[in-house]
Amino acid sequence: MDKWWKRAVIYQIYPRSFCDSNGDGIGDIPGIISRLEYLSELGVDAIWLSPVYRSPQDDNGYDISDYRDIDPIFGSLDDMDELIKKAKERGIRIIMDLVLNHSSDEHPWFVEARKSRDNPYHDYYVWREGKNGGPPNDMKSNFGGSAWEWVPECGQYYLHQFSVKQPDLNWDNTALRNRLYDIIRWWTYRGVGGFRLDVVDTLGKDVDNMVMKEGPTLHERIREMSRAAFQGRGLVTVGEAWSATPKSAVLYSDPKGTELSMVFQFEHIVGSQEKGEKWELKPLPLPELKRIFEKWQKSLEGKGWNSLFLENHDLPRSVSCYGDEGEYRVESAKMLATFLHGMQGTPYIYQGQEIGMTNSRMDIQDYRDIEIRNMYQERMDEGVPKEEIMESIYQRGRDNARTPMQWDDSENAGFSTGVPWIKVNPNYLEINVKKALEDEDSIFYYYKKLIYLRKTMPVFAEGTFDLLLPQDPFIAAYTRTTQGERLLVLCNFKGETLPCSLRTLEEDLICNYKEPGQEGFLRPFEACIIRK
Ligand code: GLC
Ligand code: CA
Repeated sequence: MDKWWKRAVIYQIYPRSFCDSNGDGIGDIPGIISRLEYLSELGVDAIWLSPVYRSPQDDNGYDISDYRDIDPIFGSLDDMDELIKKAKERGIRIIMDLVLNHSSDEHPWFVEARKSRDNPYHDYYVWREGKNGGPPNDMKSNFGGSAWEWVPECGQYYLHQFSVKQPDLNWDNTALRNRLYDIIRWWTYRGVGGFRLDVVDTLGKDVDNMVMKEGPTLHERIREMSRAAFQGRGLVTVGEAWSATPKSAVLYSDPKGTELSMVFQFEHIVGSQEKGEKWELKPLPLPELKRIFEKWQKSLEGKGWNSLFLENHDLPRSVSCYGDEGEYRVESAKMLATFLHGMQGTPYIYQGQEIGMTNSRMDIQDYRDIEIRNMYQERMDEGVPKEEIMESIYQRGRDNARTPMQWDDSENAGFSTGVPWIKVNPNYLEINVKKALEDEDSIFYYYKKLIYLRKTMPVFAEGTFDLLLPQDPFIAAYTRTTQGERLLVLCNFKGETLPCSLRTLEEDLICNYKEPGQEGFLRPFEACIIRK
């Protein structure tokens, strides 16, 4: 089967914030359709669509109450069919987000399951007896509080690793697994090009021993699902796995295709979290970041396939984290793009990244994310000073990347004619698509060129990776090599001119400065790919 996704670039859409067609303040599928031309201009091969299924929207659609329908806030099934068709006409595939670890508590399965212990659907979810008048153990939900919720009708607790409205499905139940595979096939028949599997590393958990990620049955389960629903259909499948290690990644993305096409792992993100605690801020020195990327580049060479990303709907904006929001916003956004797109793997662009959108700072009442809201309350109750909590929200909060897409300088950034569900970042007057399209030196056109290079030069997908200057605190340098081709990628992560002996002045394949550079130096946030 053709591995088209090795040369592909995938664009992630967070539908709620992308484009609103009917003025209700929420982005929708007709809105996406109206912007396909834009995505086609950028040159992306596929769209990963965050969930649009019917959902009470407790976690913005990651809580599904009907896997075979579209939520009315996003449109209808007809709209979805139309999107698949119109995208296909432009050579763009639609990748659906599959949330299989949990459903909504309003899903008919759970509505039944909670009625009594002998309900036929009871075993579709994970239930345990209480202990000493409390929950079975002290497991915490990712969104705060206990991971267990009491249901008096059953006299049992159910597990929810995320919000209380996201009960975990019981993957040990064969009937449930088959129902899920049916759903996947149903979407495949509708013409979707692939799936992104939400928190896939939690599907094989051993609850009683509190092994939630990469549990004992995980890979066997993924292989079963792959055989039942993925293989032989030309799909791309992407597993979100926060806990992946290079060792497990070669299982997830085994080139024989027994599990998934690629892994979507977060070591470069978790590396900047104090003991994996996302709200404890810790700067990640560049040598450490480079070491992590090198490790993943090297260990998957020929053995697996990785996703390349700096942003998604759960992470802050990359310019704000690793670049410069001020004077060098454009240069640093292009530099980060070069750093990432030069590597092996499939690059992802998160909506707005291609115009260099930045984090936003709002008052606490303007945040919408359940994770932020719960965390804020919990930390306030613990007596953490408000400024400290707000600072971590400004840096790490998921709503940073969920503010509306900035299309132009009209009201609400051209996102909606109504009141947007979350505030637009006030910098939309400066940073917007219209402006980017009018400026041939924009970040947008830089991405377009990177995408084009990946498609036309096999070395990007195939070349081996070698890190240079591993200890350099501000410069990232690496080569990509095939038999006939050798590329040198140079990136300056600092807003100052720095000496760099690797900088020669052969013709650059791409560079984020128009004016020719100076041999032996890299300008502030300069990035280039030199053909050797
Ligand atoms: C994934 C999603 C995130 C969601 C969570 C629960 O990590 O990316 O947005 O809240 O799973 O489904
Ligand atoms: Ca709408």
